[in-house]
Amino acid sequence: MDKKLLYEGKAKRVFQADQEDAVIMEFKDDATAFNGQKRGQIADKGVINCALTARLYRYLEDRRIPTHLLEALDERRLLVRRLTMIPLEVVVRNRVAGSLSQRTGLEEGTELASCVVEFYFKNDALGDPLFNEDHIRALGLADDNTIAELKALALRVNRVLSPFLLERQLILVDFKLEFGRFQGRLLLGDEITPDTCRLWDASSLEKLDKDRFRRDLGDVEGAYQEVWKRVQK
Ligand code: TMP
Ligand code: ASP
Repeated sequence: MDKKLLYEGKAKRVFQADQEDAVIMEFKDDATAFNGQKRGQIADKGVINCALTARLYRYLEDRRIPTHLLEALDERRLLVRRLTMIPLEVVVRNRVAGSLSQRTGLEEGTELASCVVEFYFKNDALGDPLFNEDHIRALGLADDNTIAELKALALRVNRVLSPFLLERQLILVDFKLEFGRFQGRLLLGDEITPDTCRLWDASSLEKLDKDRFRRDLGDVEGAYQEVWKRVQK
């Protein structure tokens, strides 16, 4: 059981699996915001985020979107392929919220004429700055083909998950993905959870995601449980 800890992040730990080419992702209840400046715990978040990621990644795999998921091991741990990560966060936005609201001055919830894909350079010391495609190429983080593939995969995830969630009365406002390579192939890695998405109730527009923690809106646990209740169906 004493697996080697490879990496500890803000919300997950990664351990070496028995197979050389796989790792175990363990989901913690710890929550942080604003690049770790705000810290807390969300009861059972790790269990819910583990189950949500397994559910959504299986759904994506069934629709031929390749992910790192191999199998769920227990309530907090997933066995996944060991990827060589691309150090970018790929954000897809269907409506204005969060930093896009700040950058544009548009009100949160404003619908966009077309969806927006953004890249952020994964670098805690720099606070994950927004990068354009020239920055990515100039720093050698990804070539033209990879950038195009990242964009296309992120938009496919959006096309699959937006209707899936809307059927469950959830608006997928925006979300963040991370990708890596396994045997040369680009796979969706990391997680898809209320930590990494904005999910609003389709009728009340109530926030059911980590913004409840970031903004001290209360009943954070209830929101995560509600999302799991709707998505497990
Ligand atoms: P933003 O509006 O703060 O840029 O966030 C866009 C989306 O990305 C939102 O769904 C939350 C998610 N996100 C993360 O998953 N990790 C982060 O560190 C940040 C800043 C945002
Ligand atoms: N996960 C990020 C952090 O702590 C930010 C966020 O999700 O808002 O810093």
